[in-house]
Amino acid sequence: MCGIIGVTGGSGVTELLLDGLARLEYRGYDSAGLVLQAEGTLWRARDATKPSPLEGLRKVAEDAPVATAGIGHTRWATHGHPNEGNAHPHLDCTGRVAIIHNGIIENWRELRARLLESGHVLASDTDSEAIAHLVEEELATGVDLTAAVRAVVGELRGAFALGVVSADEPETIVAARRVSPLLVGLGDSEAREGLLASDIPAILGRTRTVWALEDDEIAVLRPGSVEITSLAGDPVEHPAIEVGWDLEAAERGDYDDFMSKEMAEQPQAVTATLVGRLLPEGILALDEMHRLTDGDLQAVDKVFIVACGSSYHAGLMAKYAIERWLHLPAEIDIASEFRYRDPVLDGRTLVVGVSQSGETVDTTEAMRHARSEGAKVLVISNVVDSSMAREADGVLYTRAGPEIGVAATKTHLAQIAALEVLALYLAQLRGALPGPAIAGLLDHLRGVPDLIGEALARDEAVAGVAARFVDTRDFFYLGRHVGFPVALEGALKLKEIAYVRAEAYPAGELKHGPIALIEPGTVVLAVATRNRLWDKLKSNIQEVRSRGATVVVVAQDGDGDSAAEASSPEHVLWVPPTEELFSPLVDVVPLQQFAYHLARAHGYDVDRPRNLAKTVTVE
Ligand code: G6P
Repeated sequence: MCGIIGVTGGSGVTELLLDGLARLEYRGYDSAGLVLQAEGTLWRARDATKPSPLEGLRKVAEDAPVATAGIGHTRWATHGHPNEGNAHPHLDCTGRVAIIHNGIIENWRELRARLLESGHVLASDTDSEAIAHLVEEELATGVDLTAAVRAVVGELRGAFALGVVSADEPETIVAARRVSPLLVGLGDSEAREGLLASDIPAILGRTRTVWALEDDEIAVLRPGSVEITSLAGDPVEHPAIEVGWDLEAAERGDYDDFMSKEMAEQPQAVTATLVGRLLPEGILALDEMHRLTDGDLQAVDKVFIVACGSSYHAGLMAKYAIERWLHLPAEIDIASEFRYRDPVLDGRTLVVGVSQSGETVDTTEAMRHARSEGAKVLVISNVVDSSMAREADGVLYTRAGPEIGVAATKTHLAQIAALEVLALYLAQLRGALPGPAIAGLLDHLRGVPDLIGEALARDEAVAGVAARFVDTRDFFYLGRHVGFPVALEGALKLKEIAYVRAEAYPAGELKHGPIALIEPGTVVLAVATRNRLWDKLKSNIQEVRSRGATVVVVAQDGDGDSAAEASSPEHVLWVPPTEELFSPLVDVVPLQQFAYHLARAHGYDVDRPRNLAKTVTVE
């Protein structure tokens, strides 16, 4: 989610850092910073000025001393607001150690508490800063920077890519990673700078040969040398990766477009949204409680979910969970409608606004209306400090990282996960579900990212099914219970990127009108994964098949009964089975892929579909 760069050696350290940070711009960021090693001290500059913190940083860096090494960072906030104080690099208490971090430290609360107790002064609200102080403690025992970082890595839980420098070890950068990617390299020029980066574009101007660190490996960079060791200290050799792409291709990595990259990132997006929230002692959901107390949440007697587009579908999926687990009335509405009708709201109504961008005008205004009526407003957003997050009474952030493709994919899955966490948190707070039931559900939820990964791995099979429908101009999507919002989202994806008409219906409603449209050859896509209405859905599929429809089904592995409802064995999109209320997180994946392949078959630009905008700031 954040971008990392490090350079040691050569005469242009500061310029290389700034250029590298500029090349990470496609990740989107809310602040940028760097630390330079110069004349036995560390010199730090950070900026969080909107819209371009990097410009601010460039200005400050005009006064920078000549540096022998440095580290730089672009931040996409997860813990702590996007302001200068939370921008990286972070320093220890002495100002002689600096760190940059990408990822999420799961045990940051414990670490911070321990550090504060032993007298450290922590200057930011981030999970990352603790690392600088832990390195400081290790160095105080007399070890060198590499040994200090090695010891600290052993203490961290979660995901991280780290770069660390000390004023006392000139021209040395120590790096480490777990889960979050990290690359090292040597410059092609005579200076042979040691290079560190989270993404290839950051250092592409300097080298085309890089090595990728593996989990729990430590790298020590000096001018002309890169040494990689395991956590235990044994030397490690990796094959070099030769980068043959241009800059734009490098931004997309191995993918043809951002949409496929972002779909592939869905397991990480969901994991990041769950990390640190499902603790043994209970669920921790909210990141910010500006004007919301546990007492308010206990007193709530009605929940409204309000959103647009894919965020609306995520909300609809959550409605089933809230009603089931909380036994509370849960209404869902499209934001542009909600604000102009007369929803009955009071101090015991919780209005949940769901918005990836946190800037969509319809949802922002709906939240304002709800607050003016005295309701409690909670916002789920992927952007820390977005307008909606600032105005809300409480905030829960999805942590999907920036999404560039206009059609929501990874942010949509992260929203469903966040809403499920919120529902379970409220169930815990209100005593609506017994502890063991919550624990059982949490076990399922923790396993969901792997199941999403399994579903993604079947892309080729989905492409094969999609290839049969390249010329189809009309689709019906059917589902029942939580399968209905999945059908809605699948149909929306098809409309958005493949420009194909697709109507989604709760299958039971078909007989009240739309079935008149079914004729031989009409294509119907049914979400036939097992939920409590599966038997009834089967009958609905029979109704369209008997009228000659071609039926594609989404079915769970091993479910021959569902597969038998498809027009042929080649008309089945298989998914791994999931607990009923979590199944949308998995079942929507083949529908995203289906739309993607149809769009690509027509040569459409899946990242920038016609007539659509990523953030809609008009009514
Ligand atoms: C636009 C996007 C959709 C998105 C919707 C809501 O229409 O194209 O992909 O679902 O806005 O956006 P939000 O940022 O509020 O989630």
